[in-house]
Amino acid sequence: MNILLTGGAGLIGMAARDVLGRAGHTVTAIDVTDFGRDDPGLILMGLDDRTSLEGLIKANRIDAIVHCGAISGPMMARGKPLKIVAVNIDATALLLDLARVHGMKRFVFCSSISVYGNVGKMVITEETQLHPTSVYGASKVACEQLVEGFAVEYGLEGVSLRIGRVYGPYRRANCFLGDIIRNAQTGQPTAIPCDPDFIYHYVHVDDVAEAIAAVLVAPHFLRRSYNVGADEPLTMPQIAAIAEEAIAGARVELTPGADDVPDVQTDFDVSRIGRDIGWKPRLPLAAGLAAYRQAILSGRSA
Ligand SMILES: NC(=O)c1ccc[n+]([C@@H]2O[C@H](COP(=O)([O-])OP(=O)(O)OC[C@H]3O[C@@H](n4cnc5c(N)ncnc54)[C@H](O)[C@@H]3O)[C@@H](O)[C@H]2O)c1
Repeated sequence: MNILLTGGAGLIGMAARDVLGRAGHTVTAIDVTDFGRDDPGLILMGLDDRTSLEGLIKANRIDAIVHCGAISGPMMARGKPLKIVAVNIDATALLLDLARVHGMKRFVFCSSISVYGNVGKMVITEETQLHPTSVYGASKVACEQLVEGFAVEYGLEGVSLRIGRVYGPYRRANCFLGDIIRNAQTGQPTAIPCDPDFIYHYVHVDDVAEAIAAVLVAPHFLRRSYNVGADEPLTMPQIAAIAEEAIAGARVELTPGADDVPDVQTDFDVSRIGRDIGWKPRLPLAAGLAAYRQAILSGRSA
């Protein structure tokens, strides 16, 4: 396929470029910035520039869009809710419209576990009601609804992936896992404020990229949204124990506190995408941390 990939300099975009390229697709990657990496494979373009996007789509005979470009978490634009609305919702609507106008086959939208909000102890499946607790989460719900609307009204084959908390090379937002790895290199302990019972749903970015690749070529979708995670719910004490085992020199000091996305989401069921599409996570946390450490050591990271 000839794929337009937005957010091509971001955490998921960088991994998706790699995985989709290796799968034989031709990827046209765009972003507003390359973060000073001098990235020859990236085209600098805003997501509000319809004319330039249209030119690129025509020139590269694009037949699918993978949409990773966004304000990518509530912490990325705190105090700027209208920026989140403008970048996330408006850009998604524009890209969906371009997909419609140019008769594209597939549209993959990066949604988030944030759409579910503060669920508590209930198992989260794709049927769970959506009650976001942030403007970011609400923007993801709105985008999913647009994907649905374009699918039903215009026949665009769109799918939303509700992705857990992603870690790996090129993550710029705060990440305890990256901190643990970097501090281990300099022999420093990592202090992590947490509620010891709070559950995290970390997923390695390569698994997410492979989920994107899988839905792009799936013969059809039985659903329009799928949960994507590592199927490994862990508390911070468990994460600390795994990290200290997997990373030479890692030391974690847990202190009382709360996470910056404090939604209680105990059980995140990611089995549906396995049954419908055949994708399953490959990297449990220990293996994912080892891969992340290797990327940092070899200079392939943010
Ligand atoms: N990282 C996570 O934990 C996580 C979890 C669930 C869902 N997601 C979603 O996955 C997608 C990708 O996330 P990520 O982790 O790669 O984020 P990221 O912040 O690393 O990448 C997002 C990219 O979008 C680009 N971007 C922002 N505004 C833009 C604009 N106006 N025009 C063009 N490009 C713009 C940024 O420059 C950035 O490179 C996002 O939609 C995010 O909400 C991320």
